[in-house]
Amino acid sequence: MLFGGAAAAVALLIPWLPRPASEQADRIDFVFWFVTAICIAIFALVAAVIVYSLIHFRAAPDDDTDGPPTHGHTGLEIWWTAIPAALVTAISIVSAVVLAKNEHLPNASAASGRRDPLAPLVVDVTGQQFAWLFKYPGFGNATSSTLRLPVHVPVQLRLGALDVIHSFWVPEFGQKQDAVPGLLTKLVITPKRLGTFPVICTELCGLGHAVMRSQATVMTRAKFAAWANGQGSAANPGNAAPGGVSGKKLFIDNGCNGCHTFKPAGASGDVGPDLDKLRQLARGAGQPLEQFIRESIVDPGAYVESGYPNAMPGTYATLPKEQLDALVEFLGGSGK
Ligand code: CUA
Repeated sequence: MLFGGAAAAVALLIPWLPRPASEQADRIDFVFWFVTAICIAIFALVAAVIVYSLIHFRAAPDDDTDGPPTHGHTGLEIWWTAIPAALVTAISIVSAVVLAKNEHLPNASAASGRRDPLAPLVVDVTGQQFAWLFKYPGFGNATSSTLRLPVHVPVQLRLGALDVIHSFWVPEFGQKQDAVPGLLTKLVITPKRLGTFPVICTELCGLGHAVMRSQATVMTRAKFAAWANGQGSAANPGNAAPGGVSGKKLFIDNGCNGCHTFKPAGASGDVGPDLDKLRQLARGAGQPLEQFIRESIVDPGAYVESGYPNAMPGTYATLPKEQLDALVEFLGGSGK
């Protein structure tokens, strides 16, 4: 009982898990406590039997005799097989039900009887070394470097990766899901409270793995709709000139800020060279500034600044030309 009490105190008094912020996390929490309660009960029982045996069957100091021969105990064996089997079966059933519920994308419009303009919300999540990009196909393919979600609306995340395997995780949302190159994986989230939570990459994906973080902001429906509609029209301003692409937004959306320092973008990464010193870097490489920037983006291995790892992924070679131009202009122009 003493051991059981100590184990229960450790389990209950220390806040091991973050406060759930999604319906899915609530269900996972339930499974966690269901299993923990069973474990505490079994641990207390086993510890009690051990302590009782230590005291009650202790051999006297001068007792060298063997114990009496025993031949098992059928009744006891049936119980200690049947009870764990029942508990393990119960855990399996509870887990299977929770998994099925968490993977189900509820049809919000069917429940309310009218069409919900926001549901089901789909967000395309792309992982790349070392950043997350979130795209909203329902809102003119608006992109964002942070995940924004309306509260109480089921959202389906469709995950992919450009280079290596990453894994998407918001601890407060519960489930993790891998982002794998060439594979479409999915995750359903129904946020249930407002707030800003960390987005973490939880699959070792290279040098910048530790800085591959973003934020998930759960906002009211009205705020989300205003933001998403504004973004959607900004992303597709009637086939506007490429000059409308913001270099700063590209810099952040593509995760450059994860690894590089660049004051005009408010970036302070230190995996790669400090881009506030681009002019010196270009001089060191013996190249004109603009050409140096362009080459460093599309072919990062061509010249590697000494003292830094050759760690920048080659995926930026696939940037559309107008985005590349805007990025080169932003870096070359602001880095004065
Ligand atoms: Cu991406 Cu770790």
